[in-house]
Amino acid sequence: MTNDTKNPPIDRVDGRMKVTGGARYFADFELPNMAYCVLVGSEIGRGSIASLDTRRAQNAPGVLGVFTHQNMPPIPGWDAPVGGEADGPAPKPKTEETYRILSSPKILFDGQPIALVVADSYERATHAASLVRATYTRQAARTDLRKHVAEGIAPGRPGRSGDYVRGKADGYKEAPVTLEAHYTIPTEVHNPMELHGILAHWTGPDSLMIYAKTQGVNATQQAMAQAFKLDPKNIHVHTEFMGGGFGMGLRTWPQETAVVAVARKIGRPLKLVVTRQQMFTLVGHRPYTVQTIQMGADRDGKLVGIAHAATAETASYEDFTEATVNMTKFMYACPHVSTRYRIVRLDRSVPIWMRGPGEATGAFALESAMDEMAYKLGIDPIDFRLRNYTETDPEHNRPYSSKHLREAYQKGAEAIGWTDRKPQPGSVRQGDWLVGYGMSTGTFNAFRWEASARALLNADGSLTVQSAVTDIGPGTGTALTVIAHNVLGVPVNRIKVAYGDTSLPKAPTQGGSAIVSAVGSAVFEVCTAIRNTLVELATKAGGPLAGRKADELTLADGQLFVEKDPAKRVAVSDLMRTNNLTVIDKSGDSKGGPNQAKYSMYSFSVHFVQVRVNPLTGVVRVTKAVSVADSGRIVSPKTAASQMIGGVAGGIGMALTEEAVIDHRFGRFVNNNLGDYHVPVHADVPAIETIFIDKPDPIINPMGAKGMGEIALIGFAGAVANAVFNATGQRIRELPITPDKLLRTT
Ligand code: MOS
Repeated sequence: MTNDTKNPPIDRVDGRMKVTGGARYFADFELPNMAYCVLVGSEIGRGSIASLDTRRAQNAPGVLGVFTHQNMPPIPGWDAPVGGEADGPAPKPKTEETYRILSSPKILFDGQPIALVVADSYERATHAASLVRATYTRQAARTDLRKHVAEGIAPGRPGRSGDYVRGKADGYKEAPVTLEAHYTIPTEVHNPMELHGILAHWTGPDSLMIYAKTQGVNATQQAMAQAFKLDPKNIHVHTEFMGGGFGMGLRTWPQETAVVAVARKIGRPLKLVVTRQQMFTLVGHRPYTVQTIQMGADRDGKLVGIAHAATAETASYEDFTEATVNMTKFMYACPHVSTRYRIVRLDRSVPIWMRGPGEATGAFALESAMDEMAYKLGIDPIDFRLRNYTETDPEHNRPYSSKHLREAYQKGAEAIGWTDRKPQPGSVRQGDWLVGYGMSTGTFNAFRWEASARALLNADGSLTVQSAVTDIGPGTGTALTVIAHNVLGVPVNRIKVAYGDTSLPKAPTQGGSAIVSAVGSAVFEVCTAIRNTLVELATKAGGPLAGRKADELTLADGQLFVEKDPAKRVAVSDLMRTNNLTVIDKSGDSKGGPNQAKYSMYSFSVHFVQVRVNPLTGVVRVTKAVSVADSGRIVSPKTAASQMIGGVAGGIGMALTEEAVIDHRFGRFVNNNLGDYHVPVHADVPAIETIFIDKPDPIINPMGAKGMGEIALIGFAGAVANAVFNATGQRIRELPITPDKLLRTT
């Protein structure tokens, strides 16, 4: 872990609040006269409701209303798209179906809400929901991607198709050594501990207070303004804390809109908390994806060509796309590269981005194939990557803003003990266990989105920093505290960061590993504006440091002083008092300059693992993990390390345990609970070493910080698969690597 005075490894500023119950999550809010609702899901995957009997539910104790497609209050904005993907208003191709919750008897996916039952307590709503009866006209649900893959459609949105050619599309065929391999990622679900939901309170005929589980309060505000044709200013959204997001809160879901509509109808605040089962169908998932990699290299280990094709599922009613094949376009120096991306509309609820969206799926295929090719060539996998290392982005023909991947390979290799690895698979045995080592590269766009912030320096020396951004868990408040501390020298315990509320300066949705870069830059700039004001006051004629230049001065611990002559100093509080200032208040917007277009901005990671595989039981244990991040300057070392550790735990799940299984006869999940959908527990996760290259990116933002939330996961599953091959000689190309797959191929 990085340890220096500039970026102190401070504790999570809200950590104590979180573990002592002081942090209030959306469902913790209770309002006078509040009602509760429960959603009833369809029992078929495709067809329509033939009859619906809600009488018993309506007559159950405490019930305030049962809302179905027969009596849902109208939602004025339902002519326009409700919610919509979080990435902007790009034109969308016409889909096969339209999904408007509780507006039609048509069923488009298993578990689709058919009734929303409102009662005066959660328990009574749950009981009444159990009394709703439906009969259906059933059609066969199309949920099996493999079966319907031939019907893949090219997503029609410009720039998102993923189809790309550099050199010749099948140039790999010209190489003396070639391979073709197929890789499968199952459906994975985010399953954060905190369940999804919303509390909607109409505070007036046209004004709304919302407590939601959203990764972006401004995005929810916009979506609701659109749905209810309200001025966004009249919608107040609060999400200060989230018990994990991983992408499931990157959009406003239809059931949220329904709750808002019903709350207006019944004239009471209304709360929805979905069930764990509903987390599998109502808040998105990582799409089931099949991929093919064709690769050719010469005998010296130079890549000649790569062709990467991916096909993923989406819903019948919305074309969800992600950047699954992007890494292949720019990761390695390779003259012939082609990628192809297709989606297939199935009778399933729509996917959404999940940590490392697209790239985590693509990296598993590409980095497995790189390992397969290295083995074919008899070259060490790190050496193979170094022989194809590129210092500039071959996709866009421009430099990277920063890239220190060589150093990452080297540091990770040392830390895992790569020299202990034997190139011959299955050659290391310790007791009952086969031991293997694997590695993989990861990468993700380093974004800098537009954001605003406000900072207020008070005469008592305390500082308040404000941004509407939510914290889905990485420690945003902590990182922003460190950034403000570094500019203004205010002790971290005198800094209060207020966030997660639309009353605060506008911020992008927390996602895409972009928040330190985006909101951090805004905080940096408003704090710099405060610093400039202090320097002006001190150095102006008659000021205590008159005649001094700004760059001679340092701000620390509430004192402004001449760095080379520290006796020349003034307390910030005195400076403000003598100028009759009780507060210095600065606001501003921040975004990257035009210069950034000349660079490709990516974060990089390298994951190394040691695994032990029991050849009798097929059990795989990750016994050592080292993750190295080249994500620019590390702003908050302690929370950054936590991010990496969380990514590894998620990566172990992706590699070894996580799979949402559908019974295609019914189009229904059969393991939609945390007993059967396996996420790693402590016993599955070894001690994890995190290493930061910690070199500032000179282009992206004033802190030099690139994102790191996604790269903590991206590539990890490939490292495990590669290690399993090294341990056993068995190449598993379908995640998760469960014992049955290892035993099947023994
Ligand atoms: Mo993340 S998938 O950008 O929440």
